[in-house]
Amino acid sequence: MFTTERLYLRGFRSSDARLILDMWNNIDVQPTISNEYIVPRGPKFLDHITASAEDALLFLTIEKRSETGSDETVIQEEHFVGTTSITMGNPKNRDGIFGIMIEPKFWGLGYGEEVTRFVVDYCFHSLGLHRVSLLVFSGNERAIDLYKKVGFLEEGRKRKVNWIDGQWEDMIYMGILKEEWETASSA
Ligand SMILES: CC(C)(COP(=O)(O)OP(=O)(O)OC[C@H]1O[C@@H](n2cnc3c(N)ncnc32)[C@H](O)[C@@H]1OP(=O)(O)O)[C@@H](O)C(=O)NCCC(=O)NCCS
Repeated sequence: MFTTERLYLRGFRSSDARLILDMWNNIDVQPTISNEYIVPRGPKFLDHITASAEDALLFLTIEKRSETGSDETVIQEEHFVGTTSITMGNPKNRDGIFGIMIEPKFWGLGYGEEVTRFVVDYCFHSLGLHRVSLLVFSGNERAIDLYKKVGFLEEGRKRKVNWIDGQWEDMIYMGILKEEWETASSA
């Protein structure tokens, strides 16, 4: 388990899947992470969540730090903040794909930045990655601002690729290289 200033980042437990499903089904969250039909997902989707967690190079459940630690087998709902992940498409190129999902009630508190900085640093210093990539929809200004603040650069754009709320939005490709992270961290 990892610890940041205000958070625990720990390994996925099967009991987390229900909380992740509830977060996924939140109408403010699902359109930011899915280009499929925006519809509530039922219990079958729990298997997809568990499979995604197990297939990732790194899949962490984010918890608020508490006095009692995070040893409970089942997380207390009020401590569940979200998830973050790194998946590897092609290990030869050491290019990890970053993902993050935070409960809307915790948005704007700096948790996204705290988690993203930790994971990017861990990718370069412990996982041996050479770059971290991500995909974000152009309508997701909150996420784009966060990624730019951490040091990601826009690398490309697939135009009008996602139909959402009666209009098309672009898919933006962003990335950060190890040397860029080192330079930003030492500034
Ligand atoms: C995107 C997400 C991870 C951001 O997490 P967060 O905890 O709200 O972000 P933070 O509080 O750490 O904010 C970090 C920066 O993001 C930007 N930001 C935060 N709220 C914002 C808003 N309402 N509008 C625009 N930018 C915003 C700011 O640059 C902010 O830095 P600042 O507080 O110094 O101004 C979170 O909103 C989320 O999980 N959204 C749903 C899932 C998602 O979009 N995942 C990413 C898919 S690519």
